[in-house]
Amino acid sequence: MNIQHLKQSFASYFNSESEIIVRAPGRVNLIGEHTDYNDGFVLPMAIDRAVWLALRPRDDKTVRIFSLDLETDSAFELNSLAKGNDWIEYPKSIAYELMKAGYELCGFDAVMTGDVPRGAGLSSSAAVELAVARAFAEVSGFAWDAPKMAKLSQKAENEWVGVNCGIMDQMASAACKEGHALFLDCRSLEIQHAPLPKSVSIVILDTSTRRGLVDSAYNERRSQCEEAARWFGVKALRDVSVEEFNKRSKDGLNELAAKRARHIVTENTRVLEALEVMKAGNVKRLGELFIASHNSLRDDFEVTNEALNVMVDCALEQKSCYGARMTGAGFGGCAVALVKEENATEFVNAVSVAYRQRSNMEAAVYVCKASEGASLFCE
Ligand code: GLA
Repeated sequence: MNIQHLKQSFASYFNSESEIIVRAPGRVNLIGEHTDYNDGFVLPMAIDRAVWLALRPRDDKTVRIFSLDLETDSAFELNSLAKGNDWIEYPKSIAYELMKAGYELCGFDAVMTGDVPRGAGLSSSAAVELAVARAFAEVSGFAWDAPKMAKLSQKAENEWVGVNCGIMDQMASAACKEGHALFLDCRSLEIQHAPLPKSVSIVILDTSTRRGLVDSAYNERRSQCEEAARWFGVKALRDVSVEEFNKRSKDGLNELAAKRARHIVTENTRVLEALEVMKAGNVKRLGELFIASHNSLRDDFEVTNEALNVMVDCALEQKSCYGARMTGAGFGGCAVALVKEENATEFVNAVSVAYRQRSNMEAAVYVCKASEGASLFCE
């Protein structure tokens, strides 16, 4: 990120110097897909792409944000929040939830920019939400409590913006640690920072397809999972073991709900194993778990598209690749691959070429680094 450019933009837009810079990252989920809203386990990591805000506190209750990327500005009054349907709803929703939780907020002027691709499954909206929450914490003078801010941002997205997401993206953007993935129990919100294995690169493979009617498909998966949980008589699919699933699912659970449930139940065990093998540095096994996860998302949960399947095939054909899978909600967007570090550049080139040949589309393939969750930027 070009901080100088961000600061200069603030100066020329607001005719004064910015005083504070905050950032919040996007994330790539390593494993544990669609498990968060089933009270299960996830293992995302924050990436080195983020949303940045340069800002200056105001003496009144106005929040004015100029978006460098959209080349437009928007403002709202903290005392009279009203719903609209623009990008500013994300910042507004955070203000609303913070005030509802009892925080006294101050207004600010800000310039916002970011390099998390939108709609790619890398949580650009969570990055905006957490960057704004971090900005409010700085100007209003309250302590940063990552899990609390994550929960509040998720609520903002569920209730104000109207997207029924789970807790993973906001927790990753709020609470990740540089160089680590974040193991999260989505029921207890217990976290563990798991160091990434040495000599391995995490590569993002953007298919350049974007999710279409994703909200309805996402919500449909949620209700199928809830239906299966009811059938098993449990609060959430997190409470069903693989053994129990195998023993009972043939006694009348409808076929579709059984497929959805099988993904969740097996994916939860994969996340727990992934955490262990990551700690032990067993990259080979971690790669196998990636592949099993993708196959389950493709065949049982049915949230991949052709482009994601082709991309994962292109990645797996490379000798340097330990494993690859779709990441995020699916239906388009990105895959993630685990690659031998010394071969990463070669891998990026080879997969880009293979994907172009097979799909007739251009991919964006890049190595990413595990970064810190939402933070104040100090020069
Ligand atoms: C989206 C949602 C998350 C999670 C993933 C799928 O990114 O925002 O809460 O459900 O999809 O794992």
